[in-house]
Amino acid sequence: MSTYDFTSIIDRHGKDAIAVDGVGRVPGMAPAAPKPGFDVIPMWVADMNFPTVPTIQEEIIRRAQHPMFGYFQPTDEYFNAIIDWQRTRNGVTGLAAEHIGYENGVLGGVVSALKAFATPGDAVLLHSPTYIGFTHSIGDNGYRIVHSPLVRDADGVWRMDFDDMDRKIKENNIHVAVFCSPHNPCGRVWERWEIERAMEVYRANDCVVISDEIWSDIILGGHKHIPTQSVSDDARNRTIAFYAPSKTFNLAGLVGSYHIIYSEYLRDRVLAVSGKTHYNAMNVLSMHALIGAYRPEGHVWVDELRAVLTENVEYAVDYIRSHFEGIRVAKPEGTYMLFLDCTDWCAAHGVTLEELEKRGSDVGVAWQDGRQFQHPCAIRMNLALPKSRVEEAMHRLSEYVF
Ligand SMILES: Cc1ncc(COP(=O)(O)O)c(C=O)c1O
Repeated sequence: MSTYDFTSIIDRHGKDAIAVDGVGRVPGMAPAAPKPGFDVIPMWVADMNFPTVPTIQEEIIRRAQHPMFGYFQPTDEYFNAIIDWQRTRNGVTGLAAEHIGYENGVLGGVVSALKAFATPGDAVLLHSPTYIGFTHSIGDNGYRIVHSPLVRDADGVWRMDFDDMDRKIKENNIHVAVFCSPHNPCGRVWERWEIERAMEVYRANDCVVISDEIWSDIILGGHKHIPTQSVSDDARNRTIAFYAPSKTFNLAGLVGSYHIIYSEYLRDRVLAVSGKTHYNAMNVLSMHALIGAYRPEGHVWVDELRAVLTENVEYAVDYIRSHFEGIRVAKPEGTYMLFLDCTDWCAAHGVTLEELEKRGSDVGVAWQDGRQFQHPCAIRMNLALPKSRVEEAMHRLSEYVF
């Protein structure tokens, strides 16, 4: 039994939710609207269909009752909440307020870090498949993305190809890499040895590492998140890491991410860029949301969430493997995303990916085109919904789509 509610189906229409109101309305990104008779099951954009932990609302409301919202500075309570969260969840020691800085979104932070260490036109290393936000934010700012493809091992687990990384870094004079841990959309929670090997490649080639750990709280089953900065002293000083309560607690609409940078040099260079934008300032309600999220209740909520997501993932992966022959899926170890490789199924049925996607979106399975994530024939599916909705989606896929 959960303390918190992960089963109610809450109507998000008209409540500032692109997940439902954006369906059919965000060209190139959102799935098409369903045919009459089918409601939308939002399985695309990376937010969740669960009510968040009540301490967040309580904290925002408590602050909102005070009638002044003037200029402010982040409080000790804010920094201590982050230090405590990182210690308890990730075993981080030695973290101090000076290492932490606000970021107006993880992607904004990624861009500031890139600007500090690369010039437009420079190549940046990224694994593929990759999160569409990286493709846009890195490309939009004039950098050349060089993908090092993840490869599936004999057990179907996505792995980094260290030789390929090393070769591409050398061939392209790369000195900045973006590393996604856990990985969206492949759902890998990298093992310590994998991070160590990757960091060894970056060290050998003098790369600054931008480590996006926004998914680090959403770890499934028995897996464990290893912060990139924790694998060695060199990693601690070569890495600019980003975190946020937004993915964990469904607060993307409030905006409020943060960096952890131990090296004074890296920190100074990143702040030199972000400070000059004069945009990178915290919203007071977002600060209070983080404080509410990182309370003891937030720990309980996230652990319950992880159990719910683990069950959804087990169910969906088993269902797909036993019902949809030709669809390949690796079981995610973190995140709440499934990445369905539809190559074999499309070939066997003479159906294009567009047609397949349309069949799903027609019946309200609002999934996302995997080509946005640099895979030629895949679909990404968000499982952060009450299990009854995931079951409904699978039944519709079985009846109408595959
Ligand atoms: C890997 C990754 N990084 C960053 C973001 C977006 O973060 P923000 O909204 O803080 O820019 C997402 C959202 O899905 C993500 O998956």
